[in-house]
Amino acid sequence: MAEASFTMDKPRRVITIHLPHRETVAAALLVLLLGAACFCGMISPLIFPPAQEEEPPETPAIPNSQLANANLNQRVEDLLKQMTLAEKIGQLTQYSAGTLTGPGSNMPNLEKLVAQGEIGSLFNVVGARETNYYQRIAVEKSRLHIPLLFGYDVIHGETTIFPVPLALASSWDPDLVQATARCAAEESTNDGVRWVFSPMVDIARDARWGRITEGAGEDTFLGSAFASAYVHGYQGPDLARSNAVAACVKHFAAYGAPNGGREYNTVDMSELTLRQVYLPPYKAAIDAGAATVMSAFNPLNGVPATADPFTLTKILRGEWNFGGFVVSDYGAVAELIEHGVATTKAIAAKKAISAGVDMDMMSDLYRTRLAGLVKDEEMPETVIDEAARRVLRVKFALGLFDHPYADESKPPSAVSPGKRALARRAAEESIVLLKNGAKPIPFSAGPLLPLRRDTPTIALIGPLADSPVDMLGSWSARGDPKDAVTLRAALQARCDAAKTKLIYTQGTDILTESESGFRAAVAAARQADVIVLALGESAPRMTGESSSVTRLDLPGNQEELLELIQSVGKPVVLVLFDGRPLAIKWAAENVPAIVEAWYPGIEAGNAVAEVLFGDVNPSGKLTATFPRAVGQEPLFYNQLPTGRPADDIDLTHPPTGQDKYFSRYIDETNAPLYVFGHGLSYTTFTYSQLRLSHEAISIDALTNPPGSHLFAPARKILVNVTVKNTGPVAGTEVAQLYIRNIGGSVEEPVRELRGFQRVTLKPGESRVLTFSLSFRELAYFNLDMERVVEPTQYDVWVGGSSDATLGTQFEVTEK
Ligand code: NOJ
Repeated sequence: MAEASFTMDKPRRVITIHLPHRETVAAALLVLLLGAACFCGMISPLIFPPAQEEEPPETPAIPNSQLANANLNQRVEDLLKQMTLAEKIGQLTQYSAGTLTGPGSNMPNLEKLVAQGEIGSLFNVVGARETNYYQRIAVEKSRLHIPLLFGYDVIHGETTIFPVPLALASSWDPDLVQATARCAAEESTNDGVRWVFSPMVDIARDARWGRITEGAGEDTFLGSAFASAYVHGYQGPDLARSNAVAACVKHFAAYGAPNGGREYNTVDMSELTLRQVYLPPYKAAIDAGAATVMSAFNPLNGVPATADPFTLTKILRGEWNFGGFVVSDYGAVAELIEHGVATTKAIAAKKAISAGVDMDMMSDLYRTRLAGLVKDEEMPETVIDEAARRVLRVKFALGLFDHPYADESKPPSAVSPGKRALARRAAEESIVLLKNGAKPIPFSAGPLLPLRRDTPTIALIGPLADSPVDMLGSWSARGDPKDAVTLRAALQARCDAAKTKLIYTQGTDILTESESGFRAAVAAARQADVIVLALGESAPRMTGESSSVTRLDLPGNQEELLELIQSVGKPVVLVLFDGRPLAIKWAAENVPAIVEAWYPGIEAGNAVAEVLFGDVNPSGKLTATFPRAVGQEPLFYNQLPTGRPADDIDLTHPPTGQDKYFSRYIDETNAPLYVFGHGLSYTTFTYSQLRLSHEAISIDALTNPPGSHLFAPARKILVNVTVKNTGPVAGTEVAQLYIRNIGGSVEEPVRELRGFQRVTLKPGESRVLTFSLSFRELAYFNLDMERVVEPTQYDVWVGGSSDATLGTQFEVTEK
């Protein structure tokens, strides 16, 4: 991204006058005043949109108003009164009835338990007929006819598989994500599923953790925007609609920060970091109306998340007013014994439900232990009543009591042209162009990409070039690899149409030491005008749950293959298919062009081919930092400051003297390989004219509702910036706004994202973008765990990545 023509603009004072709606006399007066002010040259020529519109409250009473509905709750109470203790506990019990997604085995006699009302939910059973089979038993045979709730891991599509969530996040397009979630909801409900275990909103700052692929990456602000978009997409405007699914926000809380990046490992962090960085995306999902939450496997600051009243009750219920129910993760209630906080199964069950876990997934401890605890007066029955009430509330809200069955007359969900088009768009927007350098000598000058359509011979090499199952990514639900278009298939179709030649050879396996394919790969490379190398990870084996790694380089001998092919001397494009940022330092230094495709879903090959040939101008931006070396992890852009920053030190060689005593490594620079927000385009964008509506804003103005007086203070700072497409082709830029707060009672990160906008511009076109900074964007937690603004200074930058250089400042004042 060209940011060379940035200008450092000084903030300018703008007079902003606020107009109460009803005061027309005052309005007339104001017009006069404005006229006079303009005449006197007092008003800035910049036009800011009205700054005074009302903002919704930060946390509504019960964020999902359907769960608060009085009639609904009356129906819950009426039912609850009729239920035996065993039936109530039944509502709190969940088993898998299909492919297992964790250790152990399926429960025998499921039908019998359902008929006895001892199961409230099943998961991993999909299909109208399949779910109706169990639903009939629940509705027709159980004493109170309470329907089952069917859950499923629909993470990035149900039948139509979209890019993995980390890829989707690279689009910086919450509307797109909402559309993919809506499609997934339509397909899921068609197949009898009314509950999806998504979105995963765990902030992930460590690429070693395999589940980084399932979330939106490392940033809280962006992650919160996506959390909300997923929930709106899944649940729609009304949970009772037959095409709505209940969302399940996971994994509560802070599952994405295991020590050493090792799956299921302990999480330990300050409450400040927890509240400031990790909790906001869960809260955003709850505020968007999410009906359920999944508790995490990990301990958090010494207490297993599945037995933690601090997060599950104090924060989730007390502070956020969550009105739905909490399900444990798979077997997590029983795992309290391994964690060493329960010596018996009964104690594990008691600790989990008392902390606020309403439903037990797969441990079989609520069903087998809760009744005994009540009978022995170890626990009041009211605890069970409350948990059952929460589960029933969601079932009523989903309309399950009125419409318990899926429509068997409809065919199972299938990929359609419309859905394929959405999957294509999602893949196109997700791809990140990491590098686009010059071709090697003696090839023509200029960047390697996009490729010429008439390139006579292309060699496609690599284990990810023709592997449909990998294109789907982990957690591919009902996705069928047969629906996935590989890069080989897409390039072959193009070469056939253009009457050019494609030579394909696999070169190596994803994970092998055998070099038996190297010779053919070199032969193919020698014959080609351009080489496309498709390398990366195995989606099912190396990414997703239980896929932590200690190395981030290309697996197996793919690095050797890459270096060998590069040495042939032809132009090489490296296309990465993977679920995490890899440490590809050698490639970044030696290979001219690198495309990060992630796992793009069913339209993988078509979308990558479009980017390679320039039919689509790439617009994706990284949401997870790429390290130079694995030892830099956890690595993220929004670090807290150090007293000895190494910003002005040359870190490219080991220290020789006074350059030692800085926060640095002695064997590697601090800088990432590719920063958060990075992503290139086939055009260039410049940023200029950075202007603020005010140089200062008071705490009072930021925190208090607007007054009714005529000159009520503005409640936000507006930031205007001009973005221009200075290159040869149309393109989409993701403009990003970052802030830094200095002078407060606690340390704040060196940079934090607080705004972003996608903007599509023709060559030469420019546009003024407006961002707004209100209490929401500026507030942070103090040591008393209150969200505050203090009299401090804020730096602001806007640009095309977290390295943006165009900046200005403003102050928050006491008065
Ligand atoms: C365990 C995973 O952590 C969770 O994300 C998933 O939803 C459940 N298994 C159910 O499959």
